[in-house]
Amino acid sequence: MSIGIAGFGGYVPERVLTNAELEEMFDTSDEWIVQRTGIRERRIAAEEESTLDLAAHASLQALQHAGIGADDLDEIIVATDTPEVYTPDTAAFLQHRLGARTVPAYDLGGSGCSGFVQALDVARARATVEPKRILVVGVELISRLLSWDDRAVDVLFGDGAGAVVVDPEGSRATLIDVVAGTDGSQTDILTLGVGGTRRPFTLEVAQTGDHQRLVMEGHEVFKSAVRRMSAAVDELLGRIGCTIDDVAWLIPHQANARIIAAVGNRLKIPEERVYVNVDRYGNTGSASVPLALSEAVHGGEVTEGDLVVLVAFGAGFHWSAAALRF
Ligand code: UT7
Repeated sequence: MSIGIAGFGGYVPERVLTNAELEEMFDTSDEWIVQRTGIRERRIAAEEESTLDLAAHASLQALQHAGIGADDLDEIIVATDTPEVYTPDTAAFLQHRLGARTVPAYDLGGSGCSGFVQALDVARARATVEPKRILVVGVELISRLLSWDDRAVDVLFGDGAGAVVVDPEGSRATLIDVVAGTDGSQTDILTLGVGGTRRPFTLEVAQTGDHQRLVMEGHEVFKSAVRRMSAAVDELLGRIGCTIDDVAWLIPHQANARIIAAVGNRLKIPEERVYVNVDRYGNTGSASVPLALSEAVHGGEVTEGDLVVLVAFGAGFHWSAAALRF
């Protein structure tokens, strides 16, 4: 079942952190980072900003774009792996900050960079069963969870947020279909394993610094990301009876320019139809797809009639792809 989308929003913090600044922090180089990842700079939240602030900025832009107020919302879903606090969820904070009615609000956490597209699928199902206006947010403030002494990981990430308003009467775009999947056989190769019941956050753990250490086997994650994202797009296009030639824009998760290029090559889509902003924002986790989508829409890149395909991959592993017609 397809459903309307009424508005798009995005937000990045003002502070730009360049590769040159990272060179001052640890043994890395602009050349290595650009060659291996395509990232030139990323945004870092100000000390006084938290996940909620980023989410609220993106949400307000999406609401304004939709031409509705927060009190018109019937539900709020926030996809994040870097929540405001451990409990309750960020969606509760966002409901209050926006001044929404006491509607259901909840987080989808732990899906890494795939969370937003999965949340979009949940919203589609919820709004189909019962017509509802649902705010769907992807937000990440990853910089605060990093130790800033691990060059292999810290150069990759940035902070940001993106949001859409799913609305059965929304006319800016139609969410046609979504595919999603999970393979939980490799939960240990992309993980921040401290803070749950398996390894609670204790003073002893704090002394190891593991609570700020994202464990990542880059090569394996890279290969799985390319394979799963390409397959998800193939599956999605098959389901909606389209080919890659029908796709005006592929908006992939922005983790690494080489991953994006490899997915584009596999799918045989010309690079000028693949949206890239990883050079400016790095990997913003579950914010990456909605942020790129909002930028493409507000920048006039996406025009009426365009078929836009979103695709994401993240810790879990989880992957998801969505088709939108503008
Ligand atoms: O959103 C999903 C989450 N993550 C991803 O999608 C990331 C997926 N993986 C990747 O993007 C890539 O694997 C990385 C960018 C993380 C790494 O690129 P790579 O081409 O796989 O490099 P590598 O891990 O093979 O490292 C090559 C070398 C190593 O040195 P040796 O062992 O060859 O001497 C690293 O120690 O590069 C070294 N290195 C660095 N050098 C300078 C690792 N990080 C850095 C750095 N600066 N920041």
